[in-house]
Amino acid sequence: MTDALTIRRAVKILKAGGLVAFPTETVYGLGADASNAEAVKRIFAAKGRPVDHPLIVHIGSATQIVVWARDVPTTAWRLAEAFWPGPLTMILRRARTVCDAVTGGQDTIGLRVPAHRVALSLLREFGGGIAAPSANRFGRVSPTSAAHVVAELGDAVDLIVDGGSCSVGIESTIVDLTGQPRILRPGKISREAIEAVLSTRLDESVMEAPRVSGALQSHYAPHTPVRWVEPERLDVVLDEVTTRTGVIALRPEPRNCSSRVAAWRTMSADPALYAQDLYAQLRALDELRLDQILIEEPPDVTEWEAVRDRLRKAAGRPPARA
Ligand code: TXA
Ligand code: MG
Repeated sequence: MTDALTIRRAVKILKAGGLVAFPTETVYGLGADASNAEAVKRIFAAKGRPVDHPLIVHIGSATQIVVWARDVPTTAWRLAEAFWPGPLTMILRRARTVCDAVTGGQDTIGLRVPAHRVALSLLREFGGGIAAPSANRFGRVSPTSAAHVVAELGDAVDLIVDGGSCSVGIESTIVDLTGQPRILRPGKISREAIEAVLSTRLDESVMEAPRVSGALQSHYAPHTPVRWVEPERLDVVLDEVTTRTGVIALRPEPRNCSSRVAAWRTMSADPALYAQDLYAQLRALDELRLDQILIEEPPDVTEWEAVRDRLRKAAGRPPARA
């Protein structure tokens, strides 16, 4: 377990411009002092991430919004009140003092207060903002345990704070509040929940790809090719595949199937539990170095929106049919 000593060590490293991987309720982050441009640049180097992709700044409480953002709309305060600490990132106009390294040179900034005991004590002890993308190599599956971070980044990090497995399991919902509120990345906090708090419908216009790396058509992807299969086609597809196939499905493995595929993972029918387990399962199947991973498409309804988004990106497929 994470003790006060580890937190103190982490704070010391951050203050010295080092990199600390830490747990949040969504996924593990790769953190640096957000006010130190040199430290922030090390994040991009460690991840192999293009420098124009902005980072989320994690803060310890909503009162710090004004340190990082200007012209903060009332919608931001309402969402912070309703969902922070929690898996929601808000895009706001950045304060003039924020360094370009964090925002990829954009005029906006992403802010989030994570709902994780370890992340919050780290943030409170550190005092400032911690810039942190997910602690994976660029374009790969986000880590949901400390062991995943070691596998992704190993020596590139000065300290990995182990806080166990992440409870949410997929990245935060991103809502852009710099104009008409709109979702840039779906997550556990749903469009409906945000609309209910703001008493307004969200803009449904298409995301601009480079501003949110998670909006690229292939992202969150394992090395093994991932194939998205409609449930009604799964039986037919299974008849044709090689034995070097893995399956992530909602249904149990068919009795006569074990001779055909190398691994079958039956996921929870509850979208929250499915999300919690998804990246660990993708990683485990990826390690088997199979020819392909088949994903049985979850239902096309709002409860599954965030999971479907990540699965489609793992499969390198263009967004929604709808
Ligand atoms: O749950 C999460 O959000 C995790 C944990 C560690 O907090 N972080 C995370 O960070 O997923 P990252 O960098 O992997 O994804 C953040 C996304 C990126 O796609 C980035 O482009 C977008 O947020 N983003 C950050 N600042 C932005 C901004 N100012 N405007 C638009 N998009 C922004
Ligand atoms: Mg990421």
